[in-house]
Amino acid sequence: MNSKQTFQWNEMTMGTCYYPEHWDKSMWKSDLERMLEAGISTIRIAEFAWSKFEPLEGEFTFAFFDEFLELCRKTGMKVIMGTPTATPPAWLTSKYPEVLNRRIDGTVMEHGGRRHYNYNAPIYQELCARIVTKLGEHYGQHPAIVGWQIDNEINCEVNVFYSAADTAAFRKFLQDTYGTLEELNQAWGTTFWNQTYTDWEQVFVPRHTPSGNVNPHLELDYYRFVSESAIRFCRLQTDILRRYVRKGVYITTNGMFGNLDNHKMEKECLDVYTYDSYPSFAYGLDSPSDGEGLGDRQWSRNLNEVRSICPHFGIMEQQSGANGWNNRMEGPAPRPGQLKLWSMQSLAHGADYISYFRWRTCTMGTEIYWHGILDYDSRDNRKLAEVKEFRALQKKLNPICGADYEAAFAVVKDYDNEWDCTVDAWHRRVSYASEQGIFEASELYHTPYDVVYLQKDSELSDLAKYPVLIYPHPSLIREEQTALLKAYTEQGGTLILGCRSGYKDENGQCVQIPQPGLLAELTGTDVPEWTFTSLAEPPVFGSFGEEKMEAPIFNDLMKAGTDVKVLATYDATFYAGTPMLTEHAYGRGKVLHLGTSFSRSNTRQLLQYLGILEPYADMVELPENVELSVRSKDGKQWLFLLNYTSTAQTVTIKKPMTCMDCGKTVEGTFTLEPYGAAVLEC
Ligand code: GAL
Repeated sequence: MNSKQTFQWNEMTMGTCYYPEHWDKSMWKSDLERMLEAGISTIRIAEFAWSKFEPLEGEFTFAFFDEFLELCRKTGMKVIMGTPTATPPAWLTSKYPEVLNRRIDGTVMEHGGRRHYNYNAPIYQELCARIVTKLGEHYGQHPAIVGWQIDNEINCEVNVFYSAADTAAFRKFLQDTYGTLEELNQAWGTTFWNQTYTDWEQVFVPRHTPSGNVNPHLELDYYRFVSESAIRFCRLQTDILRRYVRKGVYITTNGMFGNLDNHKMEKECLDVYTYDSYPSFAYGLDSPSDGEGLGDRQWSRNLNEVRSICPHFGIMEQQSGANGWNNRMEGPAPRPGQLKLWSMQSLAHGADYISYFRWRTCTMGTEIYWHGILDYDSRDNRKLAEVKEFRALQKKLNPICGADYEAAFAVVKDYDNEWDCTVDAWHRRVSYASEQGIFEASELYHTPYDVVYLQKDSELSDLAKYPVLIYPHPSLIREEQTALLKAYTEQGGTLILGCRSGYKDENGQCVQIPQPGLLAELTGTDVPEWTFTSLAEPPVFGSFGEEKMEAPIFNDLMKAGTDVKVLATYDATFYAGTPMLTEHAYGRGKVLHLGTSFSRSNTRQLLQYLGILEPYADMVELPENVELSVRSKDGKQWLFLLNYTSTAQTVTIKKPMTCMDCGKTVEGTFTLEPYGAAVLEC
């Protein structure tokens, strides 16, 4: 099961992030009134305000937030209360320096930024538990509070931890996992380069080494450990809050960051998951040349992933202005229409709550250029006008609240392979390219997909709802996952596997059986040889019927079993004529084995071959520049058409539909304004 969501919004809701501690109290009332007038009914507060509650160790005071929350109650503003553990106070880290995180070379991360703590120092766990208990006791029943946010962006900015407390906890984690050092030595292959451990005291979190490399099997376990540490830290807080909060109040956290099994965290700790969406990041804020893929539209890839954690998620921080810190990031201001477009992007992908970061741009500190809705002078501006415009539309979209996202296929992922990509450059190169290639094909050719994570508790029903699964490069594969994939295919599903499949065990060691290892029964193929494509040779293609098919980055040189159809063969280099794409009937379904990585164009060919490309082609005809998302509920479908460009785009509506904004029936040629969005009901 991917998600265990226990809270859903029952109407489309708009919010913002507010920091009462940043403003003179005389501004609070008019700020709240202006928000309500704009349609903002919920605010998130307090996630960095530990010192306001505990200015000195053990001295608690609630007067400041009591006053603010009373104003919220009076004005009718609803509140999501943050636990303030992302920014431990100066008194805490100076008295208990073991709380501070370290870099791999041992440098201490000092007070002055945020998230400078580690999850494993017992004293930090104790002090966090105490402040959360105090907040729960004091505010658990507060009528204005509708939700709680744990910490802020768990694993953001820093997602590796090298303090002494981490090493101590890592040893415990390994003892629980392996029991004995013999087992650990075996799993980590420590006989290589004479790394054998004879005492647990010799085992550390990764450390600085001459060539910067760390034993890859140790590193894989280390990422598993970091994830477990983060989840435990979250659970420590949610377990406490659950004792105090009113019935119906939800617990969440925000963002989606690496080295963290977000799915497990959601299932074990949260009622609902929220994401922070800043599409400008795709432009490469530190250096324009870093810009990624499809620009702001690229953010839909993250939203696809968020949906896998929690199908009806919220956006805790939706970008409302230019992004920038005083020391880095130089983001452009959203063009007229973009703020609304990005909000619609979130809504189209499943967000029923959208909260802007932040109400007003901060006048002090690191984030003076992280622009909010209002600017420093608080005047009405075009961003506020756009927020109001979005709200007018969001209200009309109320019937869509709780509607599901429709996907033509699913991309399968899992955390072992995700973390192996961090460790393994070969794995990373194909995986990252394929994820992008599949995303681009889905976007440009209007074939929406979901992401499904294979987890310990995954069931056939999680997979069987998709006719086609692409599991791009499961280098690491376990028996249980293989069994599930077999069951999926047996009941009629189509599974597509890419190159580099099945050659590692769960420790990340290479298996000594022919590739694709445990998956060979499914694919019916054998991969006796493989190679990166050579920069000294022209790009590799294959022949796929009458068409050419790209074979970028890596090529598995496959042999097809007798009952396997060869759909494409390589055209070039010393392996011309060798199978590159095969199809194997398995149970009532089939398995396609693509011996290379997925690109925009070969993914398109595969989707077309399987008959699932452009599933809405009989309803709309769209240019590549327009994104299509579809949500559905109670027999109704809503098509979201999103134009990410600065020029108008023409689309053709092939059957009568109702425009949710203007209420009119539309058919035939329809124009989307620059950065415009339309929602059509049918
Ligand atoms: C988010 C974070 C916010 C704010 C914003 C702008 O990642 O949650 O607190 O820092 O970025 O930097």
